[in-house]
Amino acid sequence: MGATFIILGTSILAIFLAGYFAQHYLPPPKPKIVGIDLGTTYSCVGVYHAVSGKVDILEAQDGHKCIPSVVAYSDDGILVGYKAVAQSEHNPRNTIYDAKRFIGKVFSKEELQILQKTYPFMLEADEHGMIRYVLSVNNTEQRVRPEDIGSTIIEFLKNAAVQNLTSPVTKVVMSVPAEFDQLQRNYTRKAANNAGLEVFRIINEPTAAALAYGLHTKPSLSNVLVIDLGGGTLDVSLLNVQGGMFLTQGMAGNNILGGEDFNERLHSYLKTVIEKRHKQSLTDKEDLQTLRLAVEDAKINLTSSDHTFLSIHLHSLGKNSLFQERITRSKFEELNSDLFKKVIDPIQTVLKATNLPPEEIDEIVLVGGSTRIPKVRQLIQEFFNKKPNTNIDPELAVAMGVSVQAGIIGGMWPLTVSAVELPTRVKKIQIN
Ligand SMILES: *[C@@H]1O[C@H](CO)[C@@H](O)[C@H](O)[C@H]1NC(C)=O
Ligand SMILES: *[C@@H]1O[C@H](CO)[C@@H](O)[C@H](O)[C@H]1NC(C)=O
Ligand SMILES: *[C@@H]1O[C@H](CO)[C@@H](O)[C@H](O)[C@H]1NC(C)=O
Ligand SMILES: *[C@@H]1O[C@H](CO)[C@@H](O)[C@H](O)[C@H]1NC(C)=O
Repeated sequence: MGATFIILGTSILAIFLAGYFAQHYLPPPKPKIVGIDLGTTYSCVGVYHAVSGKVDILEAQDGHKCIPSVVAYSDDGILVGYKAVAQSEHNPRNTIYDAKRFIGKVFSKEELQILQKTYPFMLEADEHGMIRYVLSVNNTEQRVRPEDIGSTIIEFLKNAAVQNLTSPVTKVVMSVPAEFDQLQRNYTRKAANNAGLEVFRIINEPTAAALAYGLHTKPSLSNVLVIDLGGGTLDVSLLNVQGGMFLTQGMAGNNILGGEDFNERLHSYLKTVIEKRHKQSLTDKEDLQTLRLAVEDAKINLTSSDHTFLSIHLHSLGKNSLFQERITRSKFEELNSDLFKKVIDPIQTVLKATNLPPEEIDEIVLVGGSTRIPKVRQLIQEFFNKKPNTNIDPELAVAMGVSVQAGIIGGMWPLTVSAVELPTRVKKIQIN
């Protein structure tokens, strides 16, 4: 009898000590689930670390955290991210971007014809109206689908995570735009499955952004407005947040407004400047692409300085191939002033649809690279007379949020912390 107690007691003590030592001396458990933000223009992967409570967006390529959502099929094989962008000038037909705009979506013949004009690669619809890209690689025609592009990007990010964590990665939480329908969600899931990942949950991007700011843990919160201004789209979502429960109350957007449009204004302005100066029109495809890349560079520089200096070689100009131009932030703002003002429109639409005056908004969350533009921030702040949340990189907010959700699902958070998204019935109001 007595011996049994002693043995039992010793065992309990041993378990207790093992637990104590494990907690204090063993390395923290590795994240079991990663979070992936498969974006229209950039994609990133992140993890949540249990003990430190930190989210890491992992380095994915050559020192960059996020990679361009671009996949290129070349004679040398399949290239992803920056490597795909680097060769895009020379291989425009086989360099696919914007696949998220096509994934799981059905297009009419007319829609397809209009879209085709905006892309250098060839689009084709299958019998259901779903898109295929018609490539020409190694002198043979090849067809790939938007979900294949998604899958290639996801697999690339998965491999980056495997390298960083030095452990297998098999599970993921993904994010999608709030207005994605079931078919688009299914195809996003399929893309991840084909990359060898089991999808634990798919959450809406605005919810992810709110999670990144820890708004699921704030007790006295109600209305959160998430403004997402990316490369080609503006989305505004009103979330009701209570005790870790998220409900989308309203959505409005403009799907032809974003960074690309701001670039286009600067691009066509500079094209005019070049044509005047060199008395010849700029039609060479490679030159136009060189200018396009320089414009993106200039725009980014103008978010932190009030002027920038553009210097590029345009080979079709012949002997005087060097083009240089000083661009000021105020010039950039002037070229885009009507577009910047349009950012406020869907905000007003959402507030009207939900019967909320601006002062009822508790938190404003900015998402998407284009919310870095000082003028855009200024216009939003003036409208609400309140500072938006900006201390998280707006291009990482969604990735951080899916990683937080992955951490919660993976049991890395205290059990008292939860985040659940309720299905919404509201439809997005499109105001292009
Ligand atoms: C083109 O052919 C080369 C040589 O056989 C091969 O290495 C490459 O992967 C091919 N490209 C694609 C996109 O299949
Ligand atoms: C993993 O990523 C984090 C965050 O970028 C970095 O600090 C760490 O050094 C990386 N670890 C490895 C093994 O690459
Ligand atoms: C999406 O997938 C689910 C589960 O596989 C299926 O039940 C549903 O019918 C699919 N929806 C659409 C629109 O394809
Ligand atoms: C932007 O800034 C970087 C770093 O300061 C510089 O190398 C680059 O030339 C600039 N680009 C433009 C277009 O001003």
